[in-house]
Amino acid sequence: MSIIAELKERRAIRNYENREVDEGKIHQLLEAATWAPNDRMREPWSFYVIKGEAKQAYEQLAREYLDVRFPAKPKLIESSLKVVQSTPLIIVAAADVIPGDQAASEDNEYAVCCAIHSMWLAAKELGLGFVWRTRGVGLVRDKRLYDFVGTLPQDKRIIGTIFIGYPEAEALEKMKSPSRTCYTEKTVWL
Ligand SMILES: Cc1cc2nc3c(=O)[nH]c(=O)nc-3n(C[C@H](O)[C@H](O)[C@H](O)COP(=O)(O)O)c2cc1C
Repeated sequence: MSIIAELKERRAIRNYENREVDEGKIHQLLEAATWAPNDRMREPWSFYVIKGEAKQAYEQLAREYLDVRFPAKPKLIESSLKVVQSTPLIIVAAADVIPGDQAASEDNEYAVCCAIHSMWLAAKELGLGFVWRTRGVGLVRDKRLYDFVGTLPQDKRIIGTIFIGYPEAEALEKMKSPSRTCYTEKTVWL
């Protein structure tokens, strides 16, 4: 399939089969990420792979976050936790912060965004469902996640928490394809 066709068919997939992701595929995803464009070849990414017991610890973090964020919404908390419980693999992607150089630090963030997108397309080829999360149980702005992966916001900025698994066939069939506004409405030819 052409690259343009692949780009159009990539989707956020949030429902997974109850089985572990093949270790070889995890390596392939991470390797694909490292080919992303990046300014001055700083290769400014770090990845944290969370599965098995580490995922149970992540679930606990998510629970603590949700308890504080939504104290009066136990149903929301339970449904959000189910999302974590039913996800076999989580990868956190972070960008190096360059002390005293905001522009370069921002460029590092853009490079990590590219790396995540590369992983997303690679996941599609490998038959994996993938979604980049920031909000809610994505925890990207929560200090607990920084502590968990063992870094500080002044050293690395967490860009995305990626949920991955083999797509659940039934949910995949029911999934609607989001449409896009035509580029003509988003483009000014100067
Ligand atoms: C920076 C970023 C943050 C996102 N955060 C979330 C999120 O927190 N939760 C979620 O369910 N999806 C999240 N998404 C996925 C989007 O909701 C999804 O890409 C969008 O609905 C378009 O659907 P598509 O990816 O299938 O084209 C995020 C995507 C990006 C790029």
